[in-house]
Amino acid sequence: MAQLKARLKAAILISGRGSNMQALIEACAQPGYPAEIVLVLANRADAAGIEFARRAGIATKIIPHKDFPDRESFEKALDQAIRDAGAELVCNAGFMRLFTPWFVRVWHNRQINIHPSLLPAFPGLHTHERAIEAGVRFTGCTVHFVREIMDSGPIIAQAAVPVLPGDDADILAARVLAAEHRLYPLALRLVAEGRAHVDGERVEFTAPVGTADAAILNPTN
Ligand code: GRF
Repeated sequence: MAQLKARLKAAILISGRGSNMQALIEACAQPGYPAEIVLVLANRADAAGIEFARRAGIATKIIPHKDFPDRESFEKALDQAIRDAGAELVCNAGFMRLFTPWFVRVWHNRQINIHPSLLPAFPGLHTHERAIEAGVRFTGCTVHFVREIMDSGPIIAQAAVPVLPGDDADILAARVLAAEHRLYPLALRLVAEGRAHVDGERVEFTAPVGTADAAILNPTN
């Protein structure tokens, strides 16, 4: 009998809306998808995404950062909850807390993040305002392994979207967000299948990416 391959267990960290979390949960519900979400963790009780996760039957936990005297003790609690859930990978999805070097080291190459720009351009906040201000013709989104410097780290996948005349930050954000919802599930799949390897702080793929992957990894669509 064919052996079923174990799916990678992932935890998602959110602070708010959770639309990327939702895209990951929906991808994981597809037959044959190589990852499963074992925990959605929020640092705010009012994170809207928590309700969606609960309704999807996913374990959720709220660990308010405000309940802790410092970042270290907050992160120890996060780390414990992630381990208790059996997660092997952490997916940041709009998680609005900076990590200490300790947490980043503990989850080295096992923590990924999505950022709404084509890194290394426009790390940090207000990416869409800054992209419009800079006059770039393309922006997009990036999924990368997390490193100590915010929004840096080996790039797993990117998708580009055009910046069009008349765009304001909200219009551009919506166009980028639609690309994020396609990109994050693809990137998680590449990691969960063990195909994305960090080599000298660049991600190399051990097996050729398929046509469907290439369509989104290649920023011309
Ligand atoms: C996304 O644009 C993500 O790239 C950024 O924060 C936003 C979170 O949105 N890190 P959502 O909570 O996933 O809807």
